[in-house]
Amino acid sequence: MVMALAGSAIGLGNIWRFPYMVGQHGGAAFILVYVLCVAFIALPIFFAESIIGKSSGSDTFGAMEICAPGRGWKNTGYIAIAASFVVVSFYSVVGGWSVDYLVRSCAGGFSFSGIEEAASLFGRMNSSLAEPLLGMTAFLGITALILACGVDKGIELFSKITMPLLFLLIVFIVVRSAMLPGASAGMDYLLKPDFSKLDGKAIAAALGQAFFSLSLGVGAILTYSSYMRKEENILYSGIWSAVFDTIFALLAGFAIMPAVFASGLAPGAGPSLVFETLPVIFSQMGPVIPVVFFFSILIAALTSSISMMEVVVSWLVDQKKLPRRRAAMLAFTGTWCLGALCAVFPKVFAVCDFTTSNILMMFGAFVFALVVGWKMPKADVRTQFTNYGTSRGGKVAFPTVYFLIKYIAPVMIVAIALTNLF
Ligand code: TRP
Repeated sequence: MVMALAGSAIGLGNIWRFPYMVGQHGGAAFILVYVLCVAFIALPIFFAESIIGKSSGSDTFGAMEICAPGRGWKNTGYIAIAASFVVVSFYSVVGGWSVDYLVRSCAGGFSFSGIEEAASLFGRMNSSLAEPLLGMTAFLGITALILACGVDKGIELFSKITMPLLFLLIVFIVVRSAMLPGASAGMDYLLKPDFSKLDGKAIAAALGQAFFSLSLGVGAILTYSSYMRKEENILYSGIWSAVFDTIFALLAGFAIMPAVFASGLAPGAGPSLVFETLPVIFSQMGPVIPVVFFFSILIAALTSSISMMEVVVSWLVDQKKLPRRRAAMLAFTGTWCLGALCAVFPKVFAVCDFTTSNILMMFGAFVFALVVGWKMPKADVRTQFTNYGTSRGGKVAFPTVYFLIKYIAPVMIVAIALTNLF
C-alpha cells in the first residue's frame, strides 16, 4: 500500500508545481516553511485520513457516516468530490504538456540550436490551441480508460520501474544543472533564506503546496487507506510517503532552479516555469534521456490523476449506483469540459489551481482533523494508529501525533487560511 500512497503523492505536484511555487514565493525561506508545514501539519492530516479510511474501510461518504455520524459531516464529502473534480481538470492540462513533450522527444524534437530556441518551445506549443487540447484529451482519456477497465494494478507495476528511474534521472539533472555556467545564483536562491519575502501569502502557499503534494484534503488518501490490510502500519506508510515525496520535490527544485538562473528565465514565471526550463536542460543531452524522462513523468502523473479521478468515480459508483464504465465516461466528460477551459484560458487555470489548494483542500483537511481529534473516541484512534497495540513505534508516537491532529493542525490551518484571505 505504501507504493500506491506514494504513487498518488509523487507526481506533477513535485516536479512541476513545487519549483514554480518556490520561484513565486522567494526561494529558500519558502522551502523552509514548506518542510515545516509537511512535518507538523500535512503529515498529521495524512495520518488522520489514513485512520478514518482504514477504520471504516469505506469511501469518503461512507467513512464519514461511520466515523462522524450526522448530516453536516457527511456533506463535507461533496466538497472533497468537487475539489477532486477541479484538480483533475487542471492537472490534466499539465499532464497534457507532458504528453506533448514526450511525443516531441520521441520524434527527435529535443535538439535545439541554442538556449533561446529551447526556452521558447513551451510558447510555441501553447501558441496553437490544438496541441495543448490534444495533450490534455489524451492524458484525461488514459486516466479514464484505466479507471473504467480497472487496470490500475498494471500502472502500479509500471511505476515500480519508472519511479526509481525518475529518481535517478532527477539526481543526474541536479548534477548537470549545477554545472551550468551561472548556476550558482540558483543555488544561492535555494539555500540562502531571505525572510523578508515571507508574507502570509507565501506561508499559505507553502501549506497549500504541502497538501497538494501529499494528495490531502479531498479524500484520496482516505480512500486508498480504506484498502489497507489490517496489519499494514499507518505510522510507517505515512512517514515514508512524506519523506519520499519531499525528497522528490526538493530534488526537482535543485534540478530546475539553477537552470532557470543560468538561462536567464524569471523564477516567478508561474505554471510554465518547469516546461520552459526542461528543454534548456535537455538541449545537449542527446535524444534518449528526454524520452525516458517524460515517459517516467507521465507515469508518475497518471498514478496521481488516477487517485483523484477515483474519488469522483467511486462516488458515482457507490452513491449514484452507476456502472463503473458509465461513471468513468461521465467523469471524463465533466473534467474534459473544465480542463479545456483551463487549457485555453490561463486565468481559469490559475483560479482552479489557487482555490483548490488554498481553500478547498484546507477545508477538507480541517474537517478530517476535527473528525479524528474530536469526533472519534480516542481509544479507537489509538487502536488504529498502533495496529491494535502491536506497533511499538505507534505506541511511542501516538501522544504526539494525537496532539498535532487535535490542536496544532486545525488551529494552524485556520490561522494560515485566514491571514491569506484577509
Ligand atoms: N499529490 C499529487 C502530486 O503531487 C497530486 C494529487 C493526487 C492530488 N491526488 C490528489 C492533489 C488529490 C490534490 C488532491 O502530483
